[in-house]
Amino acid sequence: MTETVAAPPKTAGLEGVVVADSEISYVDGQAGRLVYRGYSIEELAERSSFEETTNLLLDGELPDGRELREFQSELAAQRELDGETLEAVRRFPPAADPMSALRTGVSLLGLTDPDRGDEGREATRRKGIRLIARIPTLVAAFDRARRGLEPLAPHGELGHAANFLYMLRGSEPDPEDARVLDVCLVLHAEHGMNASTFAARVTTATLSDIHSAITSAVGTLKGPLHGGANEAVMKMLREIDRRGVEPAAHIREMLAAGSKVMGFGHRVYKTMDPRAPILRGFSRKLGERTGDDRWYRMSEEILTTMQREKGIDPNVDFFSASTYHALGIPADLFTPIFAIARISGWVAHVEAQYANNRLIRPRARYVGKRDLRYVPVGERG
Ligand code: ACO
Repeated sequence: MTETVAAPPKTAGLEGVVVADSEISYVDGQAGRLVYRGYSIEELAERSSFEETTNLLLDGELPDGRELREFQSELAAQRELDGETLEAVRRFPPAADPMSALRTGVSLLGLTDPDRGDEGREATRRKGIRLIARIPTLVAAFDRARRGLEPLAPHGELGHAANFLYMLRGSEPDPEDARVLDVCLVLHAEHGMNASTFAARVTTATLSDIHSAITSAVGTLKGPLHGGANEAVMKMLREIDRRGVEPAAHIREMLAAGSKVMGFGHRVYKTMDPRAPILRGFSRKLGERTGDDRWYRMSEEILTTMQREKGIDPNVDFFSASTYHALGIPADLFTPIFAIARISGWVAHVEAQYANNRLIRPRARYVGKRDLRYVPVGERG
């Protein structure tokens, strides 16, 4: 059997393949620039908030004062979980990893959403807003339940980031901590056709619903080559600390063994990820403030070693590890926090996919056996 038409060349990992036009964000891998809807990430980190950035990502323009207040109120009003979902989260196995709990939680929210079954534009927006509002509540409720604590109702007066810290800790965070987390959420909110966003778009392109798309995205973000890298960075820092070795020596050992160093490298950036310097600043400042800058110092030594030995720069996940650790957040919640932020980009991409849809269906090049004859089971040797 020969091919009737030769298969086109394979593109491993779809590297460099363009699958859509997008007005949502621009990632310039050569120059190390990231732009949301025309605004640089540096300026948004300096001046915007997660709520405003989300409004920008969804609507394409910065809101005016009234629009922003309305959007903030809408999000705050949608934070609470319905009783059935909350009860289910309480019963999740406490040993489950939080990303798996979140993946299941998002799927559960799809069972009870009042707009389920309606994939129209307005219903999808309402479902998207509920997901943006409720994902932090899901993460915090699971974390408290697994610690044997009662999940807390959202605090309607606090901003998105501050409310998450409140639901996690049980007390209102100081404004500095809340602002650091707020900026982290801005930095992680959107990033072009990354793996989890692509997963969401593949699911959406079958005309499935937004909860299915976001469940796909959460499952994809979980992997250590994507969002899961921030937790893996913290594990590595702890391992270096436990061993009491020089970070540079540990990294050289890893490289000699052919292991990847988590938090470094990127498919698109060929220079420093523009989000990394902002997180690096937070890691340094929080280390100084908490009086425990060992994780920051270790991170700096790892960075120098990776640049010297491999010429590879850190990505967004590297300094988020020491930053979140300094905020007192457990390492297995680092990736769920990524999801708390990235849901904004996911919703924007789901809407964009519906608005200009074509089934996403690539091909595989068949390299298996050919021309075999079927032998009945009794005659096989
Ligand atoms: N540590 C050591 N070497 C690395 C690393 C790393 N972190 N990243 C890339 N390299 C090396 C590879 O070994 C490979 O070398 P080779 O050509 O000699 O074999 C070369 O650089 C190219 O690496 P690939 O894995 O082919 O690059 P790809 O574009 O497929 O992968 C990825 C990008 C997955 C991000 C990769 O850099 C990696 O695994 N990094 C560690 C995990 C991580 O931090 N992921 C988070 C990414 S950002 C995000 O998703 C939010």
